[in-house]
Amino acid sequence: MDAALISLFDGRLVPNEPDRKYLTSVIFPNLVPLEPGRVLFVGCRSYTKPYEAFFQDSEYWTLEIDPIHAKWGSKNHKTGDVRHADSLFAPGYFDLVFLNGVLGFGVDADDDQDMTFAALHRIMRPGAILLVGWNEGRCSDPLTRPTLGAAFRHQALCGMPARKGFAASTHVYDLFRAVGGSPSRADQLCGASAGPALRG
Ligand SMILES: C[S@@+](CC[C@H](N)C(=O)[O-])C[C@H]1O[C@@H](n2cnc3c(N)ncnc32)[C@H](O)[C@@H]1O
Repeated sequence: MDAALISLFDGRLVPNEPDRKYLTSVIFPNLVPLEPGRVLFVGCRSYTKPYEAFFQDSEYWTLEIDPIHAKWGSKNHKTGDVRHADSLFAPGYFDLVFLNGVLGFGVDADDDQDMTFAALHRIMRPGAILLVGWNEGRCSDPLTRPTLGAAFRHQALCGMPARKGFAASTHVYDLFRAVGGSPSRADQLCGASAGPALRG
């Protein structure tokens, strides 16, 4: 993505909080070189619409429960509930999933988290990457959910810590790999200890 487009995103379309800038300036640029074949971004708002451009070489999907926000989705979009994502997508379909700002904003109770992590695990390849962005005080810490621990490994990736917090924000990012899989190109590119099933 060229610098002018990034500037447009950061300056006008995207809230300018440090956690949001970390998503667009650190997380996306670190994950794009992995050439994820199929990407899912959950929860759509006006400021998330441009994210599709980061993943222009991938099959980029969006999922949003509220049909009114479908207009902010990508060209590959589904209206539906992430808690039942496995009824919307094929098993093992995705290489990379972003679940940012959805816990505590609709997926609130512990049971809802459990359903979500179980459903996402079913539609992710072994070794696929999951980014969970959530806010302290709005939901349980996802690391306390046994469903998450059973299906995903919490780990640093591509120079990014497994957990990233912010001094002036309640936002937290956690990085995971779906359990299973074999070493692949992503490991060569960013030195991860276990591999996702990413394209290439
Ligand atoms: C605070 S916004 C976050 C949007 C975006 N993901 C981001 O990074 O900022 C939460 C969005 O998640 C959607 N949402 C809430 N519960 C959902 C669910 N069960 N399945 C899919 N989307 C959901 C809401 O409708 C809303 O658009």
